[in-house]
Amino acid sequence: MSAIRPAAVVVLAAGEGTRMKSATPKVLHELCGRSLVGHVLAAAGELDPENLVAVVGHAREKVTAHLAEVAPDVRTAVQEQQNGTGHAVRMGLEALGGAVDGTVVVVCGDTPLLTGETLRALAATHTADGNAVTVLTAEVPDATGYGRIVRDGSSGAVTAIVEHKDASESQRAIREINSGVFAFDGQLLADALGKVRTDNSQGEEYLTDVLGILREAGHRVGASVAGDHREIAGINNRVQLAEARRTLNDRLLTRAMLAGVTVVDPATTWVDVTVTFEQDVVVHPGTQLHGSTHLAEGAEVGPNSRLTDTRVGAGARVDNTVSLDAVVGPEATVGPYAYLRPGTRLGTKAKIGTYVETKNSSIGEGTKVPHLSYVGDATIGEYTNIGAASVFVNYDGESKHHTTVGSHCKTGSDNMFVAPVTVGDGAYTAAGSVITKDVPPGSLAVARGQQRNIEGWVARKRPGSAAAKAAEAVSREAGTEG
Ligand code: UD1
Ligand code: CA
Repeated sequence: MSAIRPAAVVVLAAGEGTRMKSATPKVLHELCGRSLVGHVLAAAGELDPENLVAVVGHAREKVTAHLAEVAPDVRTAVQEQQNGTGHAVRMGLEALGGAVDGTVVVVCGDTPLLTGETLRALAATHTADGNAVTVLTAEVPDATGYGRIVRDGSSGAVTAIVEHKDASESQRAIREINSGVFAFDGQLLADALGKVRTDNSQGEEYLTDVLGILREAGHRVGASVAGDHREIAGINNRVQLAEARRTLNDRLLTRAMLAGVTVVDPATTWVDVTVTFEQDVVVHPGTQLHGSTHLAEGAEVGPNSRLTDTRVGAGARVDNTVSLDAVVGPEATVGPYAYLRPGTRLGTKAKIGTYVETKNSSIGEGTKVPHLSYVGDATIGEYTNIGAASVFVNYDGESKHHTTVGSHCKTGSDNMFVAPVTVGDGAYTAAGSVITKDVPPGSLAVARGQQRNIEGWVARKRPGSAAAKAAEAVSREAGTEG
């Protein structure tokens, strides 16, 4: 490991990415829970380099702010004008004091599928072969837009990289392409970058020219062919972004399935790289799992659910639910059609039913909120039942207040709990109550208007109406029977 530990990794992230047609810089576009450059930095981090430098330029305030958030250890180097990949690397090296002893790995910020494993293999080959430069290449079905790897006809040695725009007809037929990932000898790289010219179709300093320069100076130039060409795909437009997202998602789901997760429909299941699973989880179609979401053993999620930063306990069931920053206890059930908002904590075997919204609330073991309710800013004890269509009235128009409901309570349907208020253990509340005062343990609270029946009102006030006739028929029948 230490033998291949690079002195530096330079990540190129200064380009605008015009082909994205976006106000967002290309390297900040997202797939599977990370930005393009975030994925590249994660792979680069696996090399454990002594220095990690990102070259920023276009929209550099945005990119730098993002880097500070996702990778605080990364240094940034500024490339004021995007004069090409060679120029960008020169700026990266300048931030490190000019030249570096040891291996310098260069990666592009727009190749998010690259793995740490592939980078390690490249660095190992580079060191083992004693190369001045080793380029990561791949055979691709469609090489359009990529730099082509030109090899010597007899020895097969790499002689140059020719950009698509500068390539001849016969060179364009080459399917082995430059991934944009290189390992260099740090001193030789700095020397060669000083010799790169701009006499090409784009008038830029091409990093790829370093290869030919080093070779002509008699240094060893090597290539390492990636096993899977999809890994080195560069993202230049949104079609490629969607393809890469699909590829990465498949990779993540395959890993989960091989670890014992049932994914009923991989085509409609989307996960972030940060999502984790235990064995015997089942994920139903149309489910999106984001952020730090974790599904414990035997949990079942979906269909049609979106869970972000949510922990689902063992054997829990979550159906047609949107959840954000919530904890679902073991064997709890949620949905269909529930919305768990931040700070929801459901105990073991708790139940959140249909058309129920919860927020900043702890709901104890075995407690049920089965139908059509809003529970906000509340603590509910164990084995309590909250009646249908209840609202925890937490907001007085200025601030939020807390409601506490004890254990083993039975609250009636259509209750309003006007916070701050406390319902004691074992208490009952009557249907239709507006609870504004604390309810002592074990009592029944009734807080609603008394019912008053005004007999004969319809016959007097709505004579001849269908209602009056219906009522009259009942009294006639009662008369004959009696
Ligand atoms: C580059 C390579 C090409 C390779 C391809 C792989 C060169 C000249 N070409 O082409 O051989 O097949 O990547 O995907 O190296 N960047 C800067 N500053 C610049 C220019 C670019 O930081 O002045 C960064 C971009 O942000 C991007 C990366 O370098 O992350 C590659 O730039 P891009 O313009 O996408 O190069 P390609 O044309 O794809
Ligand atoms: Ca590119």
